[in-house]
Amino acid sequence: MSDMTPIHGFDSRTFRDALSKFATGVALITTRHRGRAVGIVVNSFASVSLEPPLVLWSIHKDSRRRPAFEETTQHAIHILSVAQRAQCLALTRDSGAFDGLPLVDKPDGPPLIEGCLARFETEPFTRVEAGDHITLMQKVVTTAHRDSDPLVFFDKGFGHLFKGPQ
Ligand SMILES: Cc1cc2nc3c(=O)[nH]c(=O)nc-3n(C[C@H](O)[C@H](O)[C@H](O)COP(=O)(O)O)c2cc1C
Repeated sequence: MSDMTPIHGFDSRTFRDALSKFATGVALITTRHRGRAVGIVVNSFASVSLEPPLVLWSIHKDSRRRPAFEETTQHAIHILSVAQRAQCLALTRDSGAFDGLPLVDKPDGPPLIEGCLARFETEPFTRVEAGDHITLMQKVVTTAHRDSDPLVFFDKGFGHLFKGPQ
């Protein structure tokens, strides 16, 4: 007998709950819009291509942050560390809540944050409208990374990774 409840037809709640079983990292995307630092926390980040180097992430069509990311071209994607959980939570509520995140200030580029696991500076490649989201496929122009423990999102909550024996 199966240990999973079967879905007959489509049910949005079951769809969401099933998606929440996919453990992901957490990414903070930043841009500078009209002189202001803007951030959005996403777990829709994914790698797409090595040659050319492409990644993607999706933004909800109704997001108040959508103009900031659609009206600018230079974005930075940061893979957050478990130590950045509180700052991450603040940024889910307020797009300008960068307190406690050390910024490398470049006057015209996107805000760059220290203390993350990886950082990708990107420019637009292609854009796909899909249902209630817009997927931004981005070309990576600069990459940096360091060793640290990732912030993980799973089953609607934040956690950390237990990396077992390899
Ligand atoms: C773990 C996590 C993942 C999220 N992933 C996305 C995402 O991929 N795309 C998105 O548009 N919003 C995502 N959100 C929601 C945004 O972080 C933010 O809360 C939302 O944009 C707030 O609405 P506003 O943009 O209208 O201010 C995520 C939130 C959390 C906590």
